[in-house]
Amino acid sequence: MRKSLRPRIPTALLLVGVAVLLSSCGWSLWDSPMTTVRPKSGFGRMTNEIFMLISWWTLGIGIAVEAGLLWVCYRYRERPGQPIPKQVHGHALLEVSWTIAFAVILLIFAVPTISVIFETQAAPPPTALRVDVSGRQWWWEFKYPDLKIVTANELHLPAGQTISFNLHAPDVIHSFWMPQLGGKRDVVPGRVNRITLAPDGPGEFPGQCAEYCGMSHANMRFRVIVHDKAGFDEWVANQQKPALTPTHPLAQKGLEVFSQNACVGCHTIAGVSGGALGPNLTHFGSRKTMGANLMAATPENVAKWIENPGHMKPGALMPDLGMRGEQTQALAAYLLSLK
Ligand code: CUA
Repeated sequence: MRKSLRPRIPTALLLVGVAVLLSSCGWSLWDSPMTTVRPKSGFGRMTNEIFMLISWWTLGIGIAVEAGLLWVCYRYRERPGQPIPKQVHGHALLEVSWTIAFAVILLIFAVPTISVIFETQAAPPPTALRVDVSGRQWWWEFKYPDLKIVTANELHLPAGQTISFNLHAPDVIHSFWMPQLGGKRDVVPGRVNRITLAPDGPGEFPGQCAEYCGMSHANMRFRVIVHDKAGFDEWVANQQKPALTPTHPLAQKGLEVFSQNACVGCHTIAGVSGGALGPNLTHFGSRKTMGANLMAATPENVAKWIENPGHMKPGALMPDLGMRGEQTQALAAYLLSLK
């Protein structure tokens, strides 16, 4: 009795495991903010169609092969008193047929795949909005050369307009990926890769570096905010304004701290400093998150970041400048006042 139960326990566990795995896959496939199967741009739809086509075909092939295997197992199973079936070594017709059949299937996959590769690599129309993306350890810089805007980790786009992203890598290889909108495309030092797409409608979407690029690769995120026309124009007008002069005494003290410390060597605040190693902070206070979408941009987090960047984000290249207490609180107040 006990003996016959034994193999059933691992089988039952296996089935439960598969069910849990399938249900979690189902969840992440459809509902996760990182889903690629509910695309929000033409680029996303084209790549998703290829994915679906190949998935259904391979599912069909998998079922056919498994059914054939099961049939052979059943048909030629060992039965009492039956002699061993005729032994076959090699069958030219069968082998040639299945080789040709699979070559044809691969060819069927290749036609739409290659056509989508060409379509998504096409030159952008002259009316496209240009955005120069720089992937850096471990944050994203977004420059809008025609609008004279430089920002970081928050990508603002107008709905319905074609955007031409030019991807630059000043340090190591990264990969630019906005799961719901499109990508991923490698960002490679020494060359400029491109993505052209038009977001369907307003919304907020996560973005993420998709190529292992060092200690904080997983923390190299960004937010994509797609606006309607009026919302985008409003954002542009605000970003084009010079940095605000602080009015609150604590923020005024923060400006002093910023100007008199090494901050100016790495960060640009228009009209205050011109560093280019770290994110541009001219409108830092207009961003909801900090540290490449790692945490909310609150006075506490900004102060903690300045006191120990490596603790907030492992490997962060910003050094601890030795500022503490009132200095960091003032600096946080100043940076957050830069709306
Ligand atoms: Cu950049 Cu991973």
